[in-house]
Formats: sequence, structure tokens, C-alpha cells
Amino acid sequence: MKSKIALLISALATCLAANAAGDAITLYSHRHYQSDEQLFQRFAEKTGIEVKVVKASADELIERLKAEGENSPADILIAADAGRLQRAKAAGLLQSVDSDTLASRIPATYRDPDDTWFGFTLRSRIFAYASDRVDASELGSYEDLADDKWRGRLLIRSSANIYNQSLLASLIAHHGEADAQSWAAAVRKNMARPPQGSDRDQMRAVAAGLGDLAVVNTYYVGLLLRSDNPKDREVARSLSIHFPNQEDRGAHVNVSGAGMTRHSPNPEAAIKFLEFLASDEAQATFPQTTSEYPVVEDAPWSDLQLIWGEFKRDSLNLNTLGDLNTQAVQTFNKAGWE
Ligand SMILES: [Fe+2]
Repeated sequence: MKSKIALLISALATCLAANAAGDAITLYSHRHYQSDEQLFQRFAEKTGIEVKVVKASADELIERLKAEGENSPADILIAADAGRLQRAKAAGLLQSVDSDTLASRIPATYRDPDDTWFGFTLRSRIFAYASDRVDASELGSYEDLADDKWRGRLLIRSSANIYNQSLLASLIAHHGEADAQSWAAAVRKNMARPPQGSDRDQMRAVAAGLGDLAVVNTYYVGLLLRSDNPKDREVARSLSIHFPNQEDRGAHVNVSGAGMTRHSPNPEAAIKFLEFLASDEAQATFPQTTSEYPVVEDAPWSDLQLIWGEFKRDSLNLNTLGDLNTQAVQTFNKAGWE
């Protein structure tokens, strides 16, 4: 009887501790995956901390944080690109997080040197191509897409898209602005149609024979393969993939990540949440649900990722992508890439 009462008291104490620990955190998130909600639910179950999510585009969330200032209810900003996180940092909207867990689990390349944001998932921007019209020996680097041999064959989305802006920022970092502009102009000339649609649409267009090669993020191939739509599964199955620049600096990579807001009302709970995203459980979940790569070493990959195998990654610090974002947008404009 005595031990039952003791148990009850300790359960009560745990409940009270959970409530006192921060009860709820608010996420401002640009991500739109149902699986994220399930993961946040797991965090709530484990910690007793309720998770509220406000969804909008990264730029809208950044503007909102600016407007709200110290009255913002947001504890965490989640974005799908290091460029956006860096923009939030530059605007003074994030704060440094001192966490041994995050520092030891997330490789330095995939977090801000000042620890204001942390990458939690990784992807590469790769080529998805029709193997009956493209010989694998034709494939090489991003730079090679400027070659005349690709005239009328390339599919890639608008320059308004952050994934393309970050890719061009990496080319500016490696080759300078003038070369990057010539590259963008040549790739624009080689497009099968004016840029339009999403990464998924580029792959659908290759499958439909509109062009031969699409530039897309790795996880979109996985998402098409797992689609409820049999036509999309067929599209993904019909394409082959190539990781660019394996002979030199490696393929362009980027992260989806999160940072603690400068005026987080619940900083302790916010840090627990960031640490949860770096946990074995969360890291093992992303490859299985969204087809993103984990950032933590030794976290298990999906079967698809294992089949694709290890690839060489560009080691450019991801902060650079944010720092060069404005320049990348201007360079696209000068090159005539809509
Ligand atoms: Fe995406």
C-alpha cells in the first residue's frame, strides 16, 4: 500500500514538473509535413510540453517575428533552407543556444557557427534524368549544365525558389559572380521550357518527354516514390539519378533546420525541443517519412538512400548560402532566368 502511494506522489510530481517546465512551446514553421506533427506529438508525450504550430512561408514568418518583437509568442523558427535561417539570424531574430547535446550531435558544417540555428535534416540538389535519352557518361557537374549539348533538354524551376538561389549562391562562392551569371544564362538557354512548377513537376515533365534532365532535391524523388498517386510512383520509377560534382568539390547540400527565437518565452522547453530533433528517435524518423537524410552521424538511412549510397558533399559552410542570397537573386535577374 505504501509503495502505491509513493508511486502516485512521484507521478504527480512528474506531472507538476512537466507543467512547471514550460507547458507549451510555439513553433513558427515553414515545413508542411504531416509526419512533423506526429513527431511533435511524440515530443509532447515524452516531455509533457505541448507544441503549438504556426505555419507560413519562411519570409512571412520572419516578417511576423520582426513585427512582433519581444511580444512574439514564438519559441522556435523552423525553415526548409539554411539561407532563410541565416536571414533570420542576420535580422537579429534568433539567439545562441548553449547545448552540449546539439554541439556534439550536429556536425559543425550543418549548424550556425554561433549556434543560433541547427540543421536537422539534409538533402542534395541532384539530377533526375531519363536514362533512355541521357547516357550516364554525359553526366558530370552543375557547371556542365551550361554546355550546348543540353540545349532544349533541361528542366528546372524558377529563380524565385530558395533551393535554386542557394545552389547559385554556392556557385558564386566557388567561382565568383561573373562566372555564376554566365552559367545561369547558359542554363536558361538550355531549358526545355520557361521555368515553372515545383521540383516534382520537373520530374513529371521529364517522364512525359518534355525534357531529359531535371534538377531536384533528393527527398522529392523519395516523396514521389511513396506517393498515393500511382502515376507519380511511375514517374519516379522511370527516372535515374546522378549526384553532381563527385569528381571535384561534391554535390550541393542544404539543410532544413531550426533556431530559438531571440524573445522565446519558454527557452528551456525550446532547447529540449531542439535536442529532441537531434535525438536518435527523430533522426531515424525523417528518412522513413520525408525521405530527407539525417544530419547525425550513424543515424539509419532509408532503403532508397542506402541504394543510392554514399556521395561526396560540398563542404561549403551553409551560412555562406544565406550571406550570398541577395547576390544570387540579382545574378539570376541579370542572367534572365525568370
Ligand atoms: Fe522542399
